[in-house]
Amino acid sequence: MIGLDSKDRSMLRCPRCQHRLVFEGASRDDEVALNGVLKCDLNHAWRVKKSVPHLFDAQALGKREQVVDIVYDLIAPFHDAAVDHVLPWLEYPSGPIDRMKYIAELGVEDMGNRAAARVLEVGVGSGANIPLIYHAAGDPAKLGYWGVDINQKMLGAAVRGAAHATRRLRFAYADAHCLPFADNSFDCVLNVGSINAYRDPMLGLREMMRVAKPGAPIVVVDEELDTDRWNCLAHKLVFRALTFFDRITKAPLELLPAGAVLMNHFAVSRYFYCLTFCKAPAPR
Ligand SMILES: C[S@@+](CC[C@H](N)C(=O)[O-])C[C@H]1O[C@@H](n2cnc3c(N)ncnc32)[C@H](O)[C@@H]1O
Ligand SMILES: [Zn+2]
Repeated sequence: MIGLDSKDRSMLRCPRCQHRLVFEGASRDDEVALNGVLKCDLNHAWRVKKSVPHLFDAQALGKREQVVDIVYDLIAPFHDAAVDHVLPWLEYPSGPIDRMKYIAELGVEDMGNRAAARVLEVGVGSGANIPLIYHAAGDPAKLGYWGVDINQKMLGAAVRGAAHATRRLRFAYADAHCLPFADNSFDCVLNVGSINAYRDPMLGLREMMRVAKPGAPIVVVDEELDTDRWNCLAHKLVFRALTFFDRITKAPLELLPAGAVLMNHFAVSRYFYCLTFCKAPAPR
């Protein structure tokens, strides 16, 4: 079930000015916002349709994001089939066993009994990680999940998949360069298969760090050729083809923002890294 109650809405911020947002529109009996607008005090208005807010400015998107959006519009109908059946041949970490290697980095198993622990997934796509995150956490009722993406078709698939979920899941259309959340909102953040192609990967890292609580794991997974393995020419050519559009082709260790603490960096598979970092815990 998809929901957006007043507690959820209190975490949201206007992506243009970072001010608080107030909902105007129709709600369900339990105060879950259905259709209407979220407005800040500067009158920037963002529409909400079937409990999913649209929190980015299409006009303000960079050229890269516009291309990414068009590409995902084209591949969305085949995305899940390709991920399940083609990518494993390319040693992509798309099966549940590989996905669990990086989901374990989120530390959600310790969050199960904590009231209102919150997980954010940036570039959620069609939502393949959602059941695995809940599984890793022991399926707690209280874990609050948020998934954001810029692409209508990809996020649309995640929203449709969540329609009959027993947990309340939250989704928003949002750009990773400008996350519509208050500072220090999340207990962990996940970003899979998305950041290498961003217009500004460092800004993407900074945004995730801003919305994560101090010490909360921020787990980033994307393409990097594992140089600890022997890679033949075919592997190098495949990697080149897979990353032709990417802005960066390795884990963004040198792009980590000031104040970031590196927690882990390993190869999930021949072509994918997992990088975990956090915002330095607040001094006691
Ligand atoms: C390869 S898919 C990965 C989907 C999912 N994370 C998974 O593991 O299956 C990458 C997703 O990132 C989204 N994306 C790309 N650039 C983005 C941006 N700037 N902000 C938000 N989402 C973005 C795309 O629309 C796409 O749905
Ligand atoms: Zn505003």
